[in-house]
Amino acid sequence: MEVIIQRDYQQMSKTAAQIVVEVLNTKPNAVLGMATGSTPLGLYQELVRLHTEEQLDFSRVTTFNLDEYVGLPVNHPQSYHYFMHEHFFRHVDIPRNNINIPSGTTSNYPAFCQWYEKRIEECGGIDLQILGIGSDGHIAFNEPGSSLSSRTRLKTLSKQTIDDNARFFDRRADVPVYAITMGVGTILDAHKLVLVASGSSKAKAVAQAVEGPVTSMVTASALQLHRDAIVIVDEAAAASLTMREYYEFIYAAKPAAPRA
Ligand code: F6R
Repeated sequence: MEVIIQRDYQQMSKTAAQIVVEVLNTKPNAVLGMATGSTPLGLYQELVRLHTEEQLDFSRVTTFNLDEYVGLPVNHPQSYHYFMHEHFFRHVDIPRNNINIPSGTTSNYPAFCQWYEKRIEECGGIDLQILGIGSDGHIAFNEPGSSLSSRTRLKTLSKQTIDDNARFFDRRADVPVYAITMGVGTILDAHKLVLVASGSSKAKAVAQAVEGPVTSMVTASALQLHRDAIVIVDEAAAASLTMREYYEFIYAAKPAAPRA
């Protein structure tokens, strides 16, 4: 696992965007795995800027989102469909048919989940999966206790996640209790992983994921099992890392390291 510590949110976002650029330069028809939440907003803004100002081409890209709330229609302002459209898809040139987001309103969740897994496979697998991390250590909505070999399925959100995400809803009671989410196993199948984390509320989860034992109680710790996982954090999110100097030494010594 590579750990990159950046001075602030903006630099974290730019460094993550450079990794997306590198993947697209190597493979213009790459399959990108997308995350929602507040953390990747800066990354999406930078990708939109690169598209608008520097002609970064998404016209052959296919995307798969990690998750969606169960029960929210696509036009609900807190649905992940809406989020992705607002913050990314409507600003770039990804063909509509190449965009895949789990359905939060299907009548048959098991069949949909199977189809989603099959569709990822048919597209050749995910080249680069973007991830955030929950304060309970989750990736996608793989809450503590999720199997590290889980696949796309329905998941009950933890109390911590409901509390964290209540900020986006009028009332806590409005936060959906269930989500459809790629599994940890689905995520580990991606060829490359980039996890972004920002702010002191993520420091503990980041330290557990990067330096703690691999455990289903912190599903982000599964990144330790992946051959090509990069964790990009800002200063505040790096605060509890004990090997910080070592990560900085490695990054500084790496000639081809992306520097925004
Ligand atoms: C969202 C997702 C979640 C978030 C995590 C952090 O698609 O997969 O795992 O990445 O809950 O959310 P923020 O960035 O809002 O703190």
